[in-house]
Amino acid sequence: MTKKRLLSAEHISKSFNRIEALRDATIEVYENSITAVIGDNGSGKSTLVKILSGFIKPDRGIIKTGEESYSALTVKKAIDLGIRTVYQDLSLDDHKNAYENIFLGDEITRGIFLDKKAMREEASRLLDEIKVSIPDLEEPVANLSGGQRQGLAIARALRRPGKVLLLDEPTAAMGIQESRKTMNMLQMLKEKGMTQLIVSHNLEQVFYIADRICVMRAGEVLVSVNAEDTSPEELSDMILRREDERLL
Ligand SMILES: Nc1ncnc2c1ncn2[C@@H]1O[C@H](COP(=O)(O)OP(=O)(O)OP(=O)(O)O)[C@@H](O)[C@H]1O
Ligand SMILES: [Mg+2]
Repeated sequence: MTKKRLLSAEHISKSFNRIEALRDATIEVYENSITAVIGDNGSGKSTLVKILSGFIKPDRGIIKTGEESYSALTVKKAIDLGIRTVYQDLSLDDHKNAYENIFLGDEITRGIFLDKKAMREEASRLLDEIKVSIPDLEEPVANLSGGQRQGLAIARALRRPGKVLLLDEPTAAMGIQESRKTMNMLQMLKEKGMTQLIVSHNLEQVFYIADRICVMRAGEVLVSVNAEDTSPEELSDMILRREDERLL
């Protein structure tokens, strides 16, 4: 069965002064599937995510959602199109507590007052839905674990229904157990119909969760393959071989 393409960035180039972060990079995200983006530090993964989320404008290339094509998105446009993003740095405010972070900049109010009770209840519902346990929603988030912080950022991204969730290194700061729990949570979200694009360094994790894998190197997408048609050895060989070529 061929799946519908929900979102794509095609032939994208982006430079920051003299650094060519992306070179003619193309990536496609299919409905009800998980696409993983792997590649070394600085290969352009986060830049690609930021272009899909409207945070950065590409120099060249096109972004497509369903029938529409855009030369660039804005953050607002991306949100209107159902694109939800969890950035690599999570953008949490360490001094604020869990529920305040979920509603950061988008608070529930009653008249001119913040409706704290409604926010607490809604936060607890959102966290339950993704099976993230934060016993005390009033605790400053600086004191939470990596998994709890990631969970909060995901709950915030999914506060309003979306079509596709972009996650940049969702398990970067986690131990094995917490990573596994997060991966299972993302798998569960997929089963509920949430299409995802996940940036990761961890090949084992990528093979555990992804349907499709895109390998990036020095701003280019080297290859996009179905996970079942490749192996961790093949992909790491590919990255290493290219690295060797560059050293010659
Ligand atoms: N705002 C910026 N200004 C200048 N250079 C940037 C900016 N953002 C990214 N770059 C550069 O573009 C290149 C790609 O960066 P990017 O963050 O996309 O890589 P990455 O694959 O996400 O790396 P990592 O695995 O370390 O997160 C890097 O050389 C980086 O230094
Ligand atoms: Mg990055």
